[in-house]
Amino acid sequence: MAFQKQAMKANTSLVLVIFFAVQYTASTQNNRSTIFHFVIEETSFERLCQSKKILTVNGQFPGPTIYARAGETVVLDVENRGKDNVTIFCCKREGKHLKSDQVNWLIEPGFKVRKNITIFDKEGTLWWHAMNIWQSATVHGAFIVHSKPGATYDIPIILGEWWKKDVKEAVLDYIDSGGDVNSDAFTVNGQPGVFYPCSNNGIFRVVVNTGKTYLLRVVNAAMSKTLYFGIARHNLTVVAMDGSPITKPFTTDYVKLSIQQSADCIFEANQQPNYYYMVAGTNVGQTHDMNKTTTAIIEYQGNYTPSSPPLLPLLPNFSPNYDKSSSRNYLNVIMTFVILGLLFCTALVVVWNRRPRRPHRSAMVTPL
Ligand SMILES: *[C@@H]1O[C@H](CO)[C@@H](O)[C@H](O)[C@H]1NC(C)=O
Ligand SMILES: *[C@@H]1O[C@H](CO)[C@@H](O)[C@H](O)[C@H]1NC(C)=O
Ligand SMILES: *[C@@H]1O[C@H](CO)[C@@H](O)[C@H](O)[C@H]1NC(C)=O
Ligand SMILES: *[C@@H]1O[C@H](CO)[C@@H](O)[C@H](O)[C@H]1NC(C)=O
Ligand SMILES: *[C@@H]1O[C@H](CO)[C@@H](O)[C@H](O)[C@H]1NC(C)=O
Repeated sequence: MAFQKQAMKANTSLVLVIFFAVQYTASTQNNRSTIFHFVIEETSFERLCQSKKILTVNGQFPGPTIYARAGETVVLDVENRGKDNVTIFCCKREGKHLKSDQVNWLIEPGFKVRKNITIFDKEGTLWWHAMNIWQSATVHGAFIVHSKPGATYDIPIILGEWWKKDVKEAVLDYIDSGGDVNSDAFTVNGQPGVFYPCSNNGIFRVVVNTGKTYLLRVVNAAMSKTLYFGIARHNLTVVAMDGSPITKPFTTDYVKLSIQQSADCIFEANQQPNYYYMVAGTNVGQTHDMNKTTTAIIEYQGNYTPSSPPLLPLLPNFSPNYDKSSSRNYLNVIMTFVILGLLFCTALVVVWNRRPRRPHRSAMVTPL
């Protein structure tokens, strides 16, 4: 594995990381609403040795993170510079009520639509996305709800997928043929990671300080796959699921996320200074099927010689049947999307909360 090369490029990556590190500034100390601007447009990305245009928000994949406080109203301006209608769907939160006119809204090409979104009470991680299944593959992002401004410092981790071909084509092909709509790579914050071709340089890195605690806001934005997520030699303490705190936080070495699920996971940088892989995949055993596992790196600050390659976590290994059933799973997933879409668009009184958003940031996170 070309990790050595990758380590040498760390400096460049760090610069990028700092460049993207946008600290949350509490812009809501008075009663004015925080305004977020989304521009939906096609943007060119290089992934898996190819260049491709995808639909994005603000040219980012995943899209920008929205940060809000509980009870706060954020104003979201969405401008559609694309060719197609886009319906944005925001912030599902089970068991809570959100005004139905805030849940989703259509933005026609060439138009800009402003929405007020109010997220009630609870802290946690939600997400926004395009309602259309193929648009949602790249038009999505985290929506993080804080109890108090600046109370937490966190790292959004959006697990997604990358298709070499046009996503719409891939989905339509699947519907036509009944074949598999499998993506070419899973991604962590838009990056496939070292196990995929041409993906070393951009790998997502989190730089940590020994003894500090970090809050990962993990969202499974994959189209149809349940994903397992873990960090080598580090436990995760799950404190919230799907945007609501859980009554009994638990500690685990990996979390399992169904599609559209989110988990708030705390981890402490309490191991030997080193580089550790953070991984996500569908079926990850001790062998780590390198074609199905996406990676990011937890990188301790300090002077030491990191393991090369970094250490891998152990995640559960599943029976081969798991993969064979994936076609059927896909059908279920598509049907689920259709049904969910209908429900969401029409009747459901969905419980959502709204929060303000901030630009997506990379690592260099201030510890808790
Ligand atoms: C914010 O609202 C509260 C009550 O709703 C009011 O007392 C306070 O003066 C307002 N603050 C500002 C800065 O407008
Ligand atoms: C976009 O949505 C509007 C309203 O539903 C509809 O009238 C229009 O035909 C749609 N345009 C496209 C390109 O689908
Ligand atoms: C959105 O909130 C602003 C105040 O922040 C208010 O002036 C405006 O009328 C609201 N718009 C809608 C559509 O509720
Ligand atoms: C992870 O948690 C388990 C069970 O609570 C514990 O035995 C183990 O020492 C923990 N590992 C680390 C690295 O903290
Ligand atoms: C990964 O994909 C490559 C090329 O598609 C293939 O040759 C290889 O056998 C795959 N590896 C595994 C472990 O499936």
